[in-house]
Parts: sequence; structure tokens; C-alpha cells
Amino acid sequence: MASNGQSNSKNQVVVVVVPFPAQGHLNQLLHFSRLILSHNIPVHYVGTSIHNRQATIRGQGWDPNIHFHHFKVPHFVSPPPILNSETKFPSHMLPSFEASLHLREPVAELMQSLSSVFKRVVVIHDTYMASVVQDAKNIANVENYMFVSTCAFTAFTSIWERMGKTPIESSHIIDVPSMEGCFTNQFVDFMIAQMEFCEFSNGSIYNTNRVIEGPYLELIEKITCNKKHWAVGPFNPLTIDQEKKDSKGRHSCMEWLDKQETNSVIYVSFGTTTTLTDEEIEQIATGLKQSKIKFIWVLRDADKGDIFDKNEGKRGELSKGFEERVEGMGFVVRDWAPQLEILSHPSTGGFMSHCGWNSTLETISMGVPIAAWPMHSDQPRNCVLITQVLKIGLVVKDWAKRHKLVTASNIENVVRRLMETTEGDEMRERAIKLKNVVGTSMDEGGVSRIEMDSFIAHITR
Ligand SMILES: *[C@@H]1O[C@H](CO)[C@@H](O)[C@H](O)[C@H]1NC(C)=O
Ligand SMILES: *[C@@H]1O[C@H](CO)[C@@H](O)[C@H](O)[C@H]1NC(C)=O
Repeated sequence: MASNGQSNSKNQVVVVVVPFPAQGHLNQLLHFSRLILSHNIPVHYVGTSIHNRQATIRGQGWDPNIHFHHFKVPHFVSPPPILNSETKFPSHMLPSFEASLHLREPVAELMQSLSSVFKRVVVIHDTYMASVVQDAKNIANVENYMFVSTCAFTAFTSIWERMGKTPIESSHIIDVPSMEGCFTNQFVDFMIAQMEFCEFSNGSIYNTNRVIEGPYLELIEKITCNKKHWAVGPFNPLTIDQEKKDSKGRHSCMEWLDKQETNSVIYVSFGTTTTLTDEEIEQIATGLKQSKIKFIWVLRDADKGDIFDKNEGKRGELSKGFEERVEGMGFVVRDWAPQLEILSHPSTGGFMSHCGWNSTLETISMGVPIAAWPMHSDQPRNCVLITQVLKIGLVVKDWAKRHKLVTASNIENVVRRLMETTEGDEMRERAIKLKNVVGTSMDEGGVSRIEMDSFIAHITR
């Protein structure tokens, strides 16, 4: 434990990171751990061995000095995704979420033992894991910070609704869809149960940036007066090395991308928690083909609670012959795609996305506009931020008509607008501008850098 020595005065502080076991969450906190480590503060990342392994094999550029704790939880079932017409929320993952709440005991022991060695233990936990760290309040030198895994825009709307929408003066408040259809009732109960423990937190950390959504961070600050908030994102790397051309590790889709023209390819991926129906797959395939725009399409089912559990066959088969029909026009990826590399490639000019926050921030970091197809959770509201506030995207799936099938002609139409029209070019320009200001904000003297330094100064005070 803490073998990295306590000679450095900053090492009097240790950070314990407690992620929620879904890919977008695991990944964001893995990157955040890297940032904390770069300030010479030791980081302990806790989870089940399954989820730690998931985070590291999929994480690009994580730091090997992170101290992983593989804790045991009761065995959980890992069923395949359910194709439920009511909601696209990945309810099949619930057993793994619930099993992870059993991390409370080992985490309490870890906090206890670190607290006797270090001057201060700083726990950073996903909001959905608040109950796991509840024992922090009983240990004098442990502090507790919440990691908010969505954008400030969506976080603000939820907090404000919970407070009964107390009147507030701001020109930035706009209508958002209700939460109906975003979660299953079971998961709503799960969230409510966790929220109860959030009141013990000493502040919140956001994987976002004031140049992206400053007004919404200020609104949050206004309505939660006595809490501290740090917006220190994006956590993901901002530059990707495209030069390692012959390196074995390069995915075959990258070589294909190399041969395409600038901004000519749309990248299509709906994240790790979405499963498409056969009908939807058929419409997307036809829509893409009819658009005549080149594409990379990541076609996978949602993750299972245990991604290494290989039972149950693969779904999501394309109609026979599709891959031959689109020969040369498109590239279908069935395994893990190097998303940041694809987004940062000059040939990529658009991203058809579910608007998960991890993916949204990656696309903002790389300056690529979005064709927005929200599926569940925070995504319908993130979609409003993307299309109406930032104006870097077009709507494919109108959430108000979420029970209707998105047709091939609708897909074709949006893809063409994004990739071939002046309207699309303007979005691309805005996305690139945003990428540039985000980049500057991370440099010496930039807002995000200042905020990260202030967080580090606060925890090492
Ligand atoms: C999130 O980001 C990582 C890289 O930073 C990427 O590999 C992954 O595809 C993204 N999506 C999710 C859901 O983790
Ligand atoms: C952290 O929060 C707890 C619970 O609200 C409180 O008792 C404690 O004083 C806070 N510590 C700091 C340093 O703000």
C-alpha cells in the first residue's frame, strides 16, 4: 500500500476513486485518475476485478501507476440486453450495478487503513456510488467529493427540478424533455437511494469545462450555494498521435480512414449501453447507403454487466449482403473501436451519436459535429445542449417521437445535411472553434487548468 513513498509532502494526501461500473463512467474516472497522478498524488481505483479489467483494456492512455483494488462482491448474473419497447435503458446491467453496492465494506476498510497512514484521504466517487462511500463521514481525515458523470446543463436541469424549479433569473434556461422514458423504474429507485447519501459530499467534480457550458455551472453554483464545484474537463487526451502508421496496435478501420478525403466520413456509434433492433439496423443500413456518404459504423450490442461473459450469441446481424453492397463506401466495426483516434482523424467529418456525455466530450475535444440520436438516461437532454445551445449538431431522433421508428430517409436526410451542406459546414466550424477554446482552457492560465490547480490546492492544503 502507498509504496510510492511519503517523502514528497503532497503524498500526505491520497485519493481513492470509486467509479460506477458502466463503461462511460469507468472511463471518465480512469482518465481523471491519470490527471490526479500527474500532480504526484497517489490514486487508488476501486472496483470489482471484472470492471477494473474492463476499464483498463478499453482505456486509452491510462497510467500504470494507478493502484487498482480488485474487491470481491457477491456473484451477479449477466444476462444479454433485453429489447424492450418501453425504454432503451440497459436494465439488464442492473444486477452488476446492485452487486457493486457491496463494495461498501472493502471501501470502508481501505479508507480506514489509508486514513491512519496519510494526513488526508480524498474520496472521489460517482454520484451513483454514494452509498458505497457513506462510511467516510465517520473517519475524521476523510473528505468526500462527488463526480458528476453528465454535463452541467443536464445536471442543472435535474437539480433544479428536484428543488421544485424555484424561480431563477437567467436567459440560459431552456425547455428540456421530461425524464419519461429515460430510465426504468427500478433504476430510478436505485438513483434515489444513492442521492440520499450525496448530502455528505464536500463538493462536486465535473468532466466539463466553463468554455463549453459556463452559464450552467454558474446556475448550479447559484442553487446549491454552500457547495464547491470544480469543472476540470475534458479528462480525455486532447491530441492523438495519428503518426504511428505501421504500429501493430492500429485498428484496420484507421488504414481505411487514411484513404478517405478530409471530412468525408461519418462515424456512427451508439455507445456501450445501446442495443438496436433489427428494424433499426435495417433503416440505418439503408439510410447510410442512400446518403452515399462514406461511413464507419460500430455495430455492437450493449455491454453485459460482465463484458467477459461470453454466453449467448451475437445479435445485430446486418441483412445478408449489406457489407458487400457497401463495399468501399463504408466500414463496419464489430469489435472495440478506437473512438478518439477515429474522431481525431482528418477524414472524419461527423459523428452519429447517442449523445452520451463521454462521447460528446470526445467529439467536442476533436471538433466533430453530431447527428444526435439520444437513446436513454441523460442523452435526450444532452441532445438539447448539443443542438440548441452549442449548435454543433442536428437531430436524427426526435425524443418526443421516441416510440416511432427512425426511417432510412430521415437518416439519409440528416447525414447529407451534416456532411454536404453549408449548414453542416457551419456546425463543423463551430465545433472546431469550440475544440480550440477547450484546448486553450487546458493550457497554462486557461480556465480548466486554473480550476484543476485549485482543486489540487484545495485537497493538498
Ligand atoms: C469513452 O472514451 C474512451 C476513450 O477515452 C473510448 O475508448 C470509449 O469508446 C468512449 N465511450 C465509452 C462509452 O466509454
Ligand atoms: C465535509 O463534509 C462533511 C459532511 O457534510 C462535514 O462534516 C465536513 O466538515 C466537511 N469537511 C470539509 C473540509 O469541508
